[in-house]
Amino acid sequence: MEGQHIQEMFHAIAPRYDFLNRLLSVKQDIKWRKALVEALRLPDNSRVLDIATGTGDVAIEVVRRKGRSVTVWGVDFALGMLQLGRKKIAGANLDANIRQAQGDAFYPPFKQGVFDAVTCAFGIRNISDKKKVLKVFFDLLKPGGQVLILELTLPKTGFMKYLYLIYFRRVLPVIGKMISKVSEAYSYLPQSVLHFPPRAAFCSLLRDAGFEDVSCKPLTVGICTLFSGVKPEK
Ligand SMILES: C[S@@+](CC[C@H](N)C(=O)[O-])C[C@H]1O[C@@H](n2cnc3c(N)ncnc32)[C@H](O)[C@@H]1O
Repeated sequence: MEGQHIQEMFHAIAPRYDFLNRLLSVKQDIKWRKALVEALRLPDNSRVLDIATGTGDVAIEVVRRKGRSVTVWGVDFALGMLQLGRKKIAGANLDANIRQAQGDAFYPPFKQGVFDAVTCAFGIRNISDKKKVLKVFFDLLKPGGQVLILELTLPKTGFMKYLYLIYFRRVLPVIGKMISKVSEAYSYLPQSVLHFPPRAAFCSLLRDAGFEDVSCKPLTVGICTLFSGVKPEK
């Protein structure tokens, strides 16, 4: 699927996005984002860039957990998602700490080497040139900065994988279509996850982009994985 099509799709499902996330993941998505934020090691007065920020859940969680000295910039190309995020940020009284920019993950409007961490939750599977975008993340980080990426993946074990694929291919698209009223969005979701590289291959992409201390942590029997890496000090 092309970038513009993906952008329009997320703009269209935005009003139902959070509700469907909680429903289809049985609220596991909240736990997964918390795991990402817990893994962040931030100095005081740090800057975090949240790519594919969507409705702002990661950005909000970062400031809630890491404190008001942190500033988060959220970038996303779907206006509908950002608008909902803005309301949630205002509702949580976090306007001073969370800023948004509408834009493409390949061209975030920032100088190189200014962020202490780059995060991306459930966004990277929508980006076809992963190698290129990981290099963009690398360049935006300060030396010693962290990249943390959450993505939906397939369970490791055979029986869980079998059950999950039934749910994923047959149940999820039907519920997603019924509630979002956007027919393609929730059939695209399983396709995009099935095409996501295996964990080891994605870790290799992170290393190829220049990151060290690369690791991956499967969450909830492996239906989600937290990938991390560090930009070398020198
Ligand atoms: C599944 S949502 C994830 C949103 C949020 N990070 C979360 O945890 O709920 C994926 C988001 O990625 C955004 N996205 C996908 N490709 C993008 C790109 N190339 N540039 C900017 N945003 C992108 C979409 O607009 C969408 O808001």
